[in-house]
Amino acid sequence: MNQFIRPVQITPEAHLIQSFWKHPGAPVGIHMNSMVLASREPVVFDTGVAADRDGWLAAVSSVVEPDDVRWIVVTHEDPDHTGNLATAVEQLRNATVVTSWWMTERLVGTIDLDPRRMRWVASGESLDIGDRTLTFHRPPIFDSPTTRAVFDTSTGLFWAGDLGAALGPEAVVHADEMPADELAASFVAGHGWISPWISMVDDTKYQTEVNRIANLGITTWAQTHGPVYEGAHIDRAIELLRGVPAADAVPQPGQADLDAVVASMLTAA
Ligand SMILES: [Fe+2]
Ligand SMILES: [Fe+2]
Repeated sequence: MNQFIRPVQITPEAHLIQSFWKHPGAPVGIHMNSMVLASREPVVFDTGVAADRDGWLAAVSSVVEPDDVRWIVVTHEDPDHTGNLATAVEQLRNATVVTSWWMTERLVGTIDLDPRRMRWVASGESLDIGDRTLTFHRPPIFDSPTTRAVFDTSTGLFWAGDLGAALGPEAVVHADEMPADELAASFVAGHGWISPWISMVDDTKYQTEVNRIANLGITTWAQTHGPVYEGAHIDRAIELLRGVPAADAVPQPGQADLDAVVASMLTAA
């Protein structure tokens, strides 16, 4: 598995913690990104995968003093978003974990969070972090019932968790680094895989949910599994999101693809 992790500045205040993983021989890799916001009370958004622990801590610490981090916002409890949550709680000693009751319940036996170090914020609620307010929104597509994407009302920065995922053959930071057709196909396929029930939803109700995101006033849309969207790429991502329920389901890689990965390992050995 080829992998790297590094901080990349994406706004005057925000660094993407970009992590990219790819099996040799696999046609695509996957990002496992998180984000740091250097607001007056600095915020870490999601905590990456456990195998990145040392690199993740080093990347976060390179852009913000660990003792200064005040908030650890977790979008949902999937292991690619909470992989270093226990480490973060230990190393970012002054941070409060922004989670929810349901997320905490779903982590029982996996990560036991100290109630004194938590704040429960559900979708539809907001969090005052001193110099700005973060608002929390259930996205139209999600793979955990706890999911909230997070919007910085002062700058338009949106940390979307899984929303906006687009796998590709290369690591990318910005959407214009991916061919538009490749990005579109990957976006639609990926969102269908994240929420395979999406073809069953009432489209009018679904579009209303998309409108809520479209009307937030997003200026920078950063996320875990793909590029950062800015400018016209935000409008395009919203347009792609609107089309997911009606799109034909894309078959996932299967045994033949696994055989190809194994064959490449044998060749490399
Ligand atoms: Fe997820
Ligand atoms: Fe994820």
